[in-house]
Amino acid sequence: MPQISFQEVTKRYQMGEVTVDALQNITLDIEPGIFVVLLGPSGSGKTTLLNLISAIDFPTSGKIRIENVDITFLNRKQRAQFRRLKIGFIFQFFNLLPTLTALENIEFALDLVGVPTANGSRIFKKKNIREVAFKWLDKVGLKDRANHFPSQLSGGEQQRVAIARALAKDPPIIVADEPTGNLDYRTGVYILSLMKELNEDAEKTFVLATHNRQISKIADLVLTMQMGQVSYFEQREPENVNNLFW
Ligand SMILES: Nc1ncnc2c1ncn2[C@@H]1O[C@H](COP(=O)(O)OP(=O)(O)OP(=O)(O)O)[C@@H](O)[C@H]1O
Ligand SMILES: [Mg+2]
Repeated sequence: MPQISFQEVTKRYQMGEVTVDALQNITLDIEPGIFVVLLGPSGSGKTTLLNLISAIDFPTSGKIRIENVDITFLNRKQRAQFRRLKIGFIFQFFNLLPTLTALENIEFALDLVGVPTANGSRIFKKKNIREVAFKWLDKVGLKDRANHFPSQLSGGEQQRVAIARALAKDPPIIVADEPTGNLDYRTGVYILSLMKELNEDAEKTFVLATHNRQISKIADLVLTMQMGQVSYFEQREPENVNNLFW
């Protein structure tokens, strides 16, 4: 059973006289535990596709099922609920809350969903949430930036806080929009290996959008996008992250 399923999905934006089909008639199935890279030029529809997977937005026509739930017609509240539990979203432009510190940004996301325990239940205690938030901040190399506000962090540091926030929630699906766009090569490779580890060891599904063809080498499935369509599906044997160069 696919975990993510699109059936003839179109997303049309109407801006006055101008109609843009950001996605045109997309049909695709993604199995659980797969590392997917969406590769395509600017404007090809990558962010739009990620927004639909995450129920941030809804399609103009077609049908979307995620983990066997039809999310096409959920209302606002149901969408938020779905997103909270199922999706870790790493935004292209970070979307950190400016009045919260790095640590508090992660804690805030965890306050809503709690932190996972070994037996699958979730705890909502402040102390446990702080511990997990700090662990993830440490994992992305920012433990000495915990009390910095986003405006006091570099672009790459903000990006890493956004990554820690999405991963800390421990969702089954992680959607990442140009997650390495602001990172230097070494930090980028480190973050990608963190993601691959979660994909391989914890069987998390990743859908990662990028312009960077090199990054597509670590995918199990590469979807090449062009003008709102998936022009090419490639299933491949993923390469080791350390073999990437850009
Ligand atoms: N809210 C919106 N209203 C109108 N048009 C939009 C909207 N969002 C996206 N579009 C249009 O849809 C198309 C696809 O946009 P999208 O953001 O999905 O591209 P992208 O592949 O993520 O590009 P980039 O690599 O630059 O981030 C673009 O032509 C864009 O102008
Ligand atoms: Mg985009």
